Amino acid sequence: MNHWTPDSIPDQSGRTALITGGSSGIGLETARVLARHGARVILAGRSQAKLDQAAEAVRASTPGARADTLLLDLSDLSSVRDAATRIAETETVDLLFNNAGVMNLPERRLTRDGFEMTVGTNHLGHFAFDAQVWPAVRRSSAPRVVTVSAIAARWPTGRLDDLMSEKGYRAMGAYAKSKRANIVYTLELARRTAASPVEALVVHPGSAMTGLQQHGSDALSRLVTPIAARLLMGSAEGAAWPSLYAATSTRVGSGEFIGPAGRDQTSGTPKPAKLPTGADDPAEGRRLWAASEQLTGVPFHPGTETAP
Ligand SMILES: NC(=O)c1ccc[n+]([C@@H]2O[C@H](COP(=O)([O-])OP(=O)(O)OC[C@H]3O[C@@H](n4cnc5c(N)ncnc54)[C@H](OP(=O)(O)O)[C@@H]3O)[C@@H](O)[C@H]2O)c1
Repeated sequence: MNHWTPDSIPDQSGRTALITGGSSGIGLETARVLARHGARVILAGRSQAKLDQAAEAVRASTPGARADTLLLDLSDLSSVRDAATRIAETETVDLLFNNAGVMNLPERRLTRDGFEMTVGTNHLGHFAFDAQVWPAVRRSSAPRVVTVSAIAARWPTGRLDDLMSEKGYRAMGAYAKSKRANIVYTLELARRTAASPVEALVVHPGSAMTGLQQHGSDALSRLVTPIAARLLMGSAEGAAWPSLYAATSTRVGSGEFIGPAGRDQTSGTPKPAKLPTGADDPAEGRRLWAASEQLTGVPFHPGTETAP
């Protein structure tokens, strides 16, 4: 029986965790707990004011904690390059969390580089960030990359054939695609780094009332979602458990998909979860990787680069 709780996390002193979307919700909770266990955390997000507030919250909950910030807009490849380069030049990143995300954007919007916003932020932004921050990850002797997906990855609308939703846009369909891409990408990353110390894991957090539910396709859903969320959803604290478990437990390893064990899979102790059908197909992994390199113009060879 798995009795894991965040109290089970071993001492993280001397380790650095970089968390995209560390300014709120699950990312902030992940940072808070890791800092409590001695890690230095780097919180990455779009708003310096929100990041400063979040870093202050980490330091307030653990006096003496080291919390730094990194301005990063995943929907802008030039911001991604600048942020990743800053880290890649000087830092060692032991734990990299691809956690930031947007959901349920009412209309089809484009990133600065012309990608559909949900997939552009949740998958392509992270792909380009990871590729360019990689030297910092490879400096670690035991690096883990944890990507935060969702149960929505299992929805049939999550097929990756029309990645940019050019044939028709549905807000939650685009979200499902982005979250399936998170899984397919991570499993391909795990295959490509199998001969290196890097471990790549993907999680789904269950469900929690966070900033994620702020968008809605219509006035009714904007009114109903927060109420339903409050009644049915868990806390960001609990939703961070799968990420924390995947990042720190020795019971799990590269290529695993972790989620809450509760019967409805929205909360509970983390354990290996059922993958969406076909998400572990290496051919789909290779296709997504090639498309991501081609769209972002960023090559990524994670298994062949040697640690500097
Ligand atoms: N909450 C749930 O029930 C649930 C369920 C399944 C999966 N998830 C996943 O959990 C992850 C965290 O979400 P959350 O629930 O904690 O929501 P949240 O509170 O809204 O946090 C999302 C974070 O992503 C950041 N972000 C959004 N767009 C960004 C961009 N373009 N560049 C950089 N950062 C950006 C936000 O930072 P700024 O806005 O400050 O830049 C924020 O810190 C997401 O990947 C989400 O898909 C959540």
